[in-house]
Amino acid sequence: MTRLQTQVTIVGAGPAGLTLAHILHRHGIESILIERRDREYVERRLRAGVLEQGSVDLLRAIGVGERMDREGLVHHGVHLQFEGERHRIALSDLTGGRAITVYGQHEVVKDLVAAQVGYGGALMFDCDGVHLRDLTTEHPVVRFNRGGVEQEVQCDFIAGCDGSHSACRSAIPAAQFTTWERKYPFSWLGILAAVPPSLDEIVYAWHERGFALHSMRTPQVTRLYVQCHPDDKLEAWPDQRVWEELKVRLATADGWSLNEGPVLEKSITAMRSFVMEPMQHGRLYLAGDAAHVVPPTGAKGMNLALADVRVLGDALARWYRTGDSAPLERYSSSCLRRVWRAEHFSWWMTSMLHRFPGEDPFQAKLQLAQLRYVCTSVAAATSMAENYVGLDDV
Ligand code: FAD
Ligand code: PHB
Repeated sequence: MTRLQTQVTIVGAGPAGLTLAHILHRHGIESILIERRDREYVERRLRAGVLEQGSVDLLRAIGVGERMDREGLVHHGVHLQFEGERHRIALSDLTGGRAITVYGQHEVVKDLVAAQVGYGGALMFDCDGVHLRDLTTEHPVVRFNRGGVEQEVQCDFIAGCDGSHSACRSAIPAAQFTTWERKYPFSWLGILAAVPPSLDEIVYAWHERGFALHSMRTPQVTRLYVQCHPDDKLEAWPDQRVWEELKVRLATADGWSLNEGPVLEKSITAMRSFVMEPMQHGRLYLAGDAAHVVPPTGAKGMNLALADVRVLGDALARWYRTGDSAPLERYSSSCLRRVWRAEHFSWWMTSMLHRFPGEDPFQAKLQLAQLRYVCTSVAAATSMAENYVGLDDV
């Protein structure tokens, strides 16, 4: 058994854990980051693509925004499409100049890992069997196995940043928190294709056959999604079927056409909303998907993860600097207002844009009425725009 000691143990090297480790490092606080997968896996895991203005500002402020500023694609609008027509929501015009940046989550992860490796941060990959104890004492412990060797870290605080199937969350007695959950009766089938985007902005499309989304990663790589059945397997979706559905669902009356190219990656994502309250127990603080999950329609998940750890990093810094524990005590309530706003927005976008199995025709009429309203009323479009680019104060 190897025994280690640090100030903060972080479990999970996703956007939340890596960003927190970096924020702590900048405050001179020592951490050990424990990740189950290997470095190559976390740097290649394809997920989110949209950074809110606040996330871009945070990554820049902590000194990891250089490549994002060079390679990220700044978007000033998004499109809602229905009945063969595309309507632009002018995000920046409606929000006093705020914008979103399209930059892959794995690129954010690569930048953060590179920064840590650069200054010799304690980043431990391939760690199995994480187990937490003594959470309500001043010296909580994280135990895990690495390369067949049992290891224990004693620390002041633990940050559970280990995603939606969080082992850290399972260490909290069930009576100490409440959860809220909604499962949606559909999934997203996503592809990454080696072909230039067919439009330089994101398109969210309502269609009788189901939702479709056109996004991108770079000027040469397109990211596309179609709504599918939650039980669908990848085998049911050969490339040709995916392109056929995308072409039908994204078609417009003016003859626009979708660029097709080789499919580099294909996966299916279930859709779920989930929140736990509070997000903390004793000396354990949960952040990101470990504490809350949103369906990807609002592009909020990674942004919420970054917003959580900004609050947590600052609260820990204050505790170490002055001994003041009030910001740590407030951590959960400070985050949950933003979390519930994002939960509502993500649910609203999801409900407006997807076909629900077995729905009556009345439902589709309501969705179309809502879409038309968002695209014609400045007040409604502003509401969508300010949520999409991210609200600072909620
Ligand atoms: P994760 O990224 O899940 O990281 C958790 C880490 O913990 C992982 O590295 C995992 O390997 C590790 N881990 C897990 N268990 C253990 C353990 N027991 N021990 C050690 N390590 C462990 N969000 C957006 O903001 N914008 C978008 O456009 C967007 N689009 C999305 C599209 C799709 C298809 C999907 C699936 C998600 C999308 N999201 C989006 C959501 C976003 O990807 C997540 O919210 C984000 O990854 C959350 O970050 P995290 O650090 O909390 O968790
Ligand atoms: C993406 O580019 O992967 C993406 C964009 C917008 C979303 C979700 C995912 O709402």
